[in-house]
Amino acid sequence: MENVPSLRERNIALIGFMGVGKTTIGELVSKKLYRDFIDVDKAIEEKYGMKIPEIFQEKGETEFRRIEKETSIHLCKNERLKILSLGGGAYAQPDIRETCMKYCIVISLDLTWDSWKDRLNLIIDNRPILQNKSMEEIEDLFQKRQGAYDYNSFQVKTDSMNEDEVAEEIVSLLKLGWEWYPPHAVD
Ligand code: S3P
Repeated sequence: MENVPSLRERNIALIGFMGVGKTTIGELVSKKLYRDFIDVDKAIEEKYGMKIPEIFQEKGETEFRRIEKETSIHLCKNERLKILSLGGGAYAQPDIRETCMKYCIVISLDLTWDSWKDRLNLIIDNRPILQNKSMEEIEDLFQKRQGAYDYNSFQVKTDSMNEDEVAEEIVSLLKLGWEWYPPHAVD
């Protein structure tokens, strides 16, 4: 029998498109809840001693997705009580999604295309997936990914909030859920 964590022990996995603020908001949530924060892409960079764009360039996207799958699944399964920030494409992989749903509470940071498009210039340089694409192609990817992000996750709409307000909203949502499930309840 697999040892599936109780609701209170589960990691909190933050998902969403590149540049929606998963890392910044994840760090804020981790401080507010006195939990440790793990950025999955950073864990990959440390393990391979390479930056994500270098991994794309030297090993290719298919190999990056394999590494991303292995690392995301390992962290979701083996860590407890952590705040995890997943790469923007991770939750589009069915195996990662299934593992997250079992071992984590999944929160999707939801930003509209209109708000997101103004952030493109700030993030494009170190996001290989966005390079050499037209605005239409990027919007197409953005819209396609939304279906995956909506899958069995709690959605937090972030357009009209600053990062601290989003973190507060996430903490309130989690506390509400935890209050519904006392520590020893079977969930
Ligand atoms: C990717 C998102 C990136 C990183 C990689 C691929 C994607 O993470 O994993 O460049 O396919 O959306 P962030 O969402 O943290 O930027």
